[in-house]
Amino acid sequence: MHPLEEPGLSTRFIDPCILVIFGATGDLTARKLLPAIYNLAREGQLPPQFACVGFARRPKTHEQFRAEMKEAINTFSRVRPIDESLWATFQNQLFYHTSEFHDGAGYDSLHRFLAEIDTRLGTKGNRVFYLSTQPSFFPLICENLYKSKLIYDAEKTKDRWSRIIIEKPFGHDIKSAHALQNELLQFLREDQIFRIDHYLGKETVQNLLVFRFANSLFESLWNSRYIDHIQITVAEDIGIGTRGAFWEEAGFLRDILQNHMMQILSLVAMEPPVNLSASAIHDEKVKVLQAIRPFDLQKLNDSFIRGQYGSGYVNGEPVIGYRQEKNVNPLSSVETYVALRLYIDNWRWAGTPFYLRGGKRLPKRATEISVFFKDPPYVLFQHPGKTNAPNVLTIRIQPDEGTSLKINCKVPGTNTIIQPVKMNFRYGKYFGMAPPEAYERLILDCILGDNTLFAREDEVFNSWKLLSPVLEHWASNPTPDLPNYASGSWGPQEAEEMLAKDGRKWRLL
Ligand SMILES: NC(=O)c1ccc[n+]([C@@H]2O[C@H](COP(=O)([O-])OP(=O)(O)OC[C@H]3O[C@@H](n4cnc5c(N)ncnc54)[C@H](OP(=O)(O)O)[C@@H]3O)[C@@H](O)[C@H]2O)c1
Repeated sequence: MHPLEEPGLSTRFIDPCILVIFGATGDLTARKLLPAIYNLAREGQLPPQFACVGFARRPKTHEQFRAEMKEAINTFSRVRPIDESLWATFQNQLFYHTSEFHDGAGYDSLHRFLAEIDTRLGTKGNRVFYLSTQPSFFPLICENLYKSKLIYDAEKTKDRWSRIIIEKPFGHDIKSAHALQNELLQFLREDQIFRIDHYLGKETVQNLLVFRFANSLFESLWNSRYIDHIQITVAEDIGIGTRGAFWEEAGFLRDILQNHMMQILSLVAMEPPVNLSASAIHDEKVKVLQAIRPFDLQKLNDSFIRGQYGSGYVNGEPVIGYRQEKNVNPLSSVETYVALRLYIDNWRWAGTPFYLRGGKRLPKRATEISVFFKDPPYVLFQHPGKTNAPNVLTIRIQPDEGTSLKINCKVPGTNTIIQPVKMNFRYGKYFGMAPPEAYERLILDCILGDNTLFAREDEVFNSWKLLSPVLEHWASNPTPDLPNYASGSWGPQEAEEMLAKDGRKWRLL
């Protein structure tokens, strides 16, 4: 049964398996992956026949790796402190393998080690390889896994399976994404490749489908006849931290817009799928991406704004500008902010603008979708010089996950005074618990072989097809005066002006 169709995960049969993490001494493993695996074990979602093997070049014993991971779980897990009695068993399922990514012998010894674990723990030859490494290593690791027969030929091998989880970014433009895919296809089939976009693992993003297609109230209004425009915001108050070298090559468009924001957009705008199978959902998302009108590069500044943060104050604290961050070129033109207007040229959305904005060092951390509805056809309750506020549906992806609806209401009294009021649903308060971490759901889905919440190749390609020309245009045209927004502000003035020209405003968050 498909995960979105069934009432709980516990009825899904989870195969015994070994999860191998490449890049196991890295930041992502400590902050997200091991805490997610621990929480899956804590909730009884993993079978007893499960093992996790960390792979990296720093020499380390199993015991050292276990001690470090215990500390990481105690620091970063959503449930702390660690459950000592569970840990006593769980740690025996954790191992470490020292090797360089390019060293073929290291993969042969990994093969032997995994076979040994199969015999000891009954993990049955099933493998998930999580590539938590720099993207340039993806083809090399896959090739070595293939040569050491750690990846099985999915056509010929039916009694065991092997899958790869790939971290973002998948390519840095359309050309490199195709090149990477072609390299991977030499060793794997598309259904063995799980391109992770952790936004898709978030409870609130999954709820978008339920919200839209299980509520006739909203779905019947979900089109250009009733919706004036939609805003999607991904705001972060943090800067780039220690990831200066990465950001100098990536920038906001590649790191956040091309994947997370385009994924959210496609879920907001897609047609109902014919069923809840992974392929039916992917098909509808791809159609949205294909229907987005290409940007007019001659007039790009009218619809696509880039920005970079300067120094300023965030949450009352003074912070430095992007160009002063570690490992950043003092004259860097890398964008830490984008704002854009796009149109989806299909039956449902013709003429409805979608405004997307996101950036680093904004006043607060908030990811949300706001749907602005059109005014009623004839506004009866007019007051001179005052217009009624539009109905706005806001879906908060993070933090304070939930949904709110702004409606107009009569203020009690003898006069007819109209005031907008808010109906607010909060996940945490209603269900009495914080939603699980995205990585928990995604790792489990990969073990189950379900790629619904992972990006399919054509989603990635269509997103790059739309955005690569923008990157090329930026590369060959003068940059705006950077930095062009102060840390702690809501971004460059041009982003405000883009909406003002359309007679609209960004929602105040
Ligand atoms: N960190 C995040 O918050 C985050 C969020 C989303 C996506 N990602 C993506 O996740 C991936 C990993 O990120 P990260 O921040 O964890 O990276 P990281 O902290 O730089 O870790 C890199 C890992 O790769 C290993 N490594 C590097 N070169 C190696 C080699 N030649 N042979 C063997 N091992 C080698 C390192 O091992 P040694 O320690 O032994 O050198 C380390 O374990 C990246 O693609 C990143 O874009 C990260």
